[in-house]
Amino acid sequence: EAGAEAFVPATGGLSAMASAVQTCRGCALHENATQAVFGEGSARARVLLVGEQPGDSEDVEGHPFVGPAGRTLDRAFREAGLRRDEVYLTNVVKHFKFVPAERGKRRIHKKPSAAEVRACTPWLTAELRLVRPELVVCLGATAAKALLGESFRVTRHRGVLLDFPESFDLGERGPDSVLATVHPSSVLRASDREAAYLDFRNDLRTAAEAVG
Ligand code: URA
Ligand code: SF4
Repeated sequence: EAGAEAFVPATGGLSAMASAVQTCRGCALHENATQAVFGEGSARARVLLVGEQPGDSEDVEGHPFVGPAGRTLDRAFREAGLRRDEVYLTNVVKHFKFVPAERGKRRIHKKPSAAEVRACTPWLTAELRLVRPELVVCLGATAAKALLGESFRVTRHRGVLLDFPESFDLGERGPDSVLATVHPSSVLRASDREAAYLDFRNDLRTAAEAVG
């Protein structure tokens, strides 16, 4: 399939995009998901955060980061001095990719392929063009690789303010910087959860201070 490009409206704001994404057939992921989950938050946000893709709860509820990872993110927002309603929160891929679970169990998230990330990126580009944040925060490797290239390593460069790459073409007024950190769901899987959480929160503090 040819990607999302043909489904992204040429004009209109975030709400027009959020409606149009429900009709996207840019890759096969729409076939099994409940709905697309578009970004949410302030259209004038100075910080735009990018996750991977909706999870089980997000797919059902239709909003980004409303499940377990979202609760970790909310705690970190609070302690870093960021507010959900003043940032813009989205994902690289807008439909949930999963393997079916046993009856009654949460469906198991599957990592989107590089081709699916590429297919969906026009939606993220549209969000970046409309919101025009100063800083982009990549939550996890999928977002970091989508924006900073396949060879980018979150483990090596996390928490560091970097120049926003020119390779990601947003016209003349792109974001100034980008900062990558781990995905909040990796905090929940860590052997020392509290240490992993504090490192994550400190990265968000660096982000908050950069626009502060
Ligand atoms: N994980 C993500 O990357 N995004 C969400 O919206 C929820 C979980
Ligand atoms: Fe379109 Fe992205 Fe959904 Fe694929 S995952 S159908 S490209 S919105």
